Amino acid sequence: MNIESKLRFSERSFSECLIIPFFEDKVPEIAADIDIDKRWMVSIENKDFFGKKKELSLLYVNGEKEKRVLLLGLGKKEDINLESIITCFSEGIKRCQSLKIDNISIAFPKKCEVKDLYRILLESIFLSNYLYHKLKRDSLKDEKVKLIEKVEIIGVKEDKELIEKIKTLTISVNLVRDLVNNNADDTTPKRLADLAEEFSKISKKIKTTVFDKKRIEKEKMGLIQAVNKGSPREPYFIVLDYTSKKSNDRTVLIGKGITYDTGGLSLKPTTSMETMKSDMSGAGVVLGVIYAVAMLDLDINITGIIPATENAIDGKSYKPGDVYISYSGKSVEVENTDAEGRLILADAITYAVKKLNPSRIIDIATLTGAISIALGEEIAGVFSNDDKIWKMIKKSAESTGEKVWRMPLYDGYREKLNSRIADIKNVGGKEAGAITGALFLKEFTEDIPWMHLDIGGCAYYKKPKGLFSYFATGFGVRLIFDFLEKLKNEI
Ligand code: BES
Ligand code: ZN
Ligand code: ZN
Repeated sequence: MNIESKLRFSERSFSECLIIPFFEDKVPEIAADIDIDKRWMVSIENKDFFGKKKELSLLYVNGEKEKRVLLLGLGKKEDINLESIITCFSEGIKRCQSLKIDNISIAFPKKCEVKDLYRILLESIFLSNYLYHKLKRDSLKDEKVKLIEKVEIIGVKEDKELIEKIKTLTISVNLVRDLVNNNADDTTPKRLADLAEEFSKISKKIKTTVFDKKRIEKEKMGLIQAVNKGSPREPYFIVLDYTSKKSNDRTVLIGKGITYDTGGLSLKPTTSMETMKSDMSGAGVVLGVIYAVAMLDLDINITGIIPATENAIDGKSYKPGDVYISYSGKSVEVENTDAEGRLILADAITYAVKKLNPSRIIDIATLTGAISIALGEEIAGVFSNDDKIWKMIKKSAESTGEKVWRMPLYDGYREKLNSRIADIKNVGGKEAGAITGALFLKEFTEDIPWMHLDIGGCAYYKKPKGLFSYFATGFGVRLIFDFLEKLKNEI
């Protein structure tokens, strides 16, 4: 998609539809600073349109630069914030997509007192313009919607650099969305490894190292091996080093790369398994973030790690009740083979601790279903042993709209993971499932500043919402990228 801006209303180009934002007030006021044709107020005069949040009214106009005008309600002026801008403009974009038009203009809602309004508007437009349609016959021809190709924003000075930056971030988010949405038989551990290798060809600052099955065995990454046992596909342990800054500071970002989660012998029920190709969303976020960091040339050092395998079911599958030795040396009783994410992450965290001298470790994972019971589909759970990085991620959530909530690493629940046969077991019972998952990971962090993002609720939508279309959301890329940008100023 191509986005341009024109400062003056009279300079605007011809388009299929002009979106005009309105406030909900007694006499509806236009949120943009433009002088529009009085005839376009017909829906308002007839009390068909009030400017309520997400309200839309479509008019066909004659003899103008546009064929249609779409009145877009933003809600009450005093209630407008980042969230409502994202929600309302995504709604406008979706309406245009369903009209099957590909060239639109948008009047900039200048009168809204929202910080970084231009950036948020650009993000809303770029990110809501995504559809996964590859697997449909004749691709978009049969679809009820069409992607938008050209947008002109009217009433704001163009910022080319910002547009390019958001384009790059959108490519990174859509990379994750595509990886997750593709069949699990396409997005395999090998595919993730190949992509990571490709990254080292597009940037000199990226060095990729891939451990295959033999090397994983040699290293004694016993938990990754255990989870992989039931799968006909090899596991890969993928490391992407990005080095730009002459400093010892290094962030390690680890993503759960379960390319399909059947639950293993503790088999998932049919309906719970349906969305489990999304269980590599954390791995996708690692690739998306490293791509964005490299393309936007961020002056930081970061290492991405992806432990990648399927959690498949087979005669060779790892077994509930058996004990496996982790890369750290700690023995782990596997009480439930469906709690596999924490197992592969534990070995990855140990690798970071042993080999990378990290300043901080961040892991991102579709770790539990319990987190979506607690926080729903829009808020990621954050568990951290470090107040400073928690405060930073909270700020990033506020500026990106990817929401987070801090969850407790409550010590008192550690005993739920006590095992009679091993150093620790991998599940702690039904209650506080997201917390015990995080407490399990904490055991391997050796008190390095660490943050665990549980995106079990946010990674995959059955229904579109806001910026997010059906299925994979790509949640986490913008959040972590923003965190790293803030970090750049701190180190
Ligand atoms: N991948 C799942 C978690 C998940 C479930 C993510 C639903 C997104 C949506 C994870 O591997 C898992 O199965 N976790 C179990 C843990 C339990 C066995 C302790 C869960 O959440 O039920
Ligand atoms: Zn599982
Ligand atoms: Zn899983």
